[in-house]
Amino acid sequence: MLNFGIIGYGFMGQTHGDMLQKLDYAKIVGVCDINKEQLRDVPADIHTYLKADELLANSDIDTVIIAVPNHIHLEMVKKAANAKKDIILEKPAAMNGPEFQEMMVLTKEANVRFTIHHQRRWDKDYRLIKEVVDSQTLGDIYTIKNCLYGFNGNMHDWHVYPEFGGGMLYDWGVHLIDQMLWMIPGKLKTIYADVRNVINQNVDDYFNIQLYFDSGITGQIELGTYFLEDKEKWFERHWFVGGDKGSAYVDGFEPKGKIVRTSELLANVPGKITMTAAGPTRSFGPPPAGRLVTEDLPDVNVNHQMFFDHYYDYVEGKEELAVKPEEILRLMKVLDAIRISAAEHRSVDFE
Ligand SMILES: NC(=O)c1ccc[n+]([C@@H]2O[C@H](COP(=O)([O-])OP(=O)(O)OC[C@H]3O[C@@H](n4cnc5c(N)ncnc54)[C@H](O)[C@@H]3O)[C@@H](O)[C@H]2O)c1
Repeated sequence: MLNFGIIGYGFMGQTHGDMLQKLDYAKIVGVCDINKEQLRDVPADIHTYLKADELLANSDIDTVIIAVPNHIHLEMVKKAANAKKDIILEKPAAMNGPEFQEMMVLTKEANVRFTIHHQRRWDKDYRLIKEVVDSQTLGDIYTIKNCLYGFNGNMHDWHVYPEFGGGMLYDWGVHLIDQMLWMIPGKLKTIYADVRNVINQNVDDYFNIQLYFDSGITGQIELGTYFLEDKEKWFERHWFVGGDKGSAYVDGFEPKGKIVRTSELLANVPGKITMTAAGPTRSFGPPPAGRLVTEDLPDVNVNHQMFFDHYYDYVEGKEELAVKPEEILRLMKVLDAIRISAAEHRSVDFE
């Protein structure tokens, strides 16, 4: 049994609370928030605290989830490590690489378990794409593209203030970059990033990141919160993988997609002219009948609870840690390099 304390009982703290109450290997011993309004609906058998130090003094708690705003992650990790609690820390783990390095040293010295809540490694659309990439059935892959667009222009609460660790790179960016780093083999040689404050004065709300790996794959990530469109759905994600033996695409978080292959090149075949809205075209008309072959994507069965299932198995000694601090240190260093690239409008050599 894992006996949890949750520090920061806002949106994500309560999401954790709801999830943990369903798990037979987890018990929530106490929750803490400086805002007592957030503790209003906590069931009576769970202790509530207004100060993290008081929750950390409860010896029945062995694992703490830290879900406070980003700028105080380090402070909370210090306190929790001092109290000898195992730590599951929300993303973005830290404000930068050196801060995360400090956390790694602190938790190692305290001899406590330490991981980061990157539950999006268990996103279904991502896992479908990752399965295809891992299967090596698309030949030499040249690009993996991940686009996430918000059509409603929303950014909220402290996410619009830099002093709290606001901005979309810290919010969704770390998930999207982590997904690429966890999927694409080889060294990340070079990074180029365009990061913008489109309507926010002080934090980023758009980015377009190119990650060049020595495996020959370029990971491309584009996120925009102000892709304003009056659609029924208010956000959309799209994955595309291109290889020399086929492509794969996956649309949406309830994913739909296919693997698509072409059987032959049309060398020395006169181009058929098709009239389109763009004008007459030979390159972009419909393919000859039977030329494109489609396959279903592999079956994957994943969900965000699996982050905790794997963590429990790790504590039980049945498997290694799923989200390793060393991986997150690399991620935080990539984030630092992205900021340099964007500020100086240049590519940055990485590994
Ligand atoms: N993994 C994910 O998908 C995901 C999603 C959303 C947020 N997050 C992360 O979770 C963390 C919290 O984000 P959120 O959206 O829940 O924010 P939130 O503002 O909804 O909740 C944060 C809570 O922390 C409390 N708090 C602030 N200082 C505190 C302190 N010193 N001690 C105790 N409580 C304190 C606030 O009162 C608030 O209730 C952030 O790091 C964020 O990036 C992760």
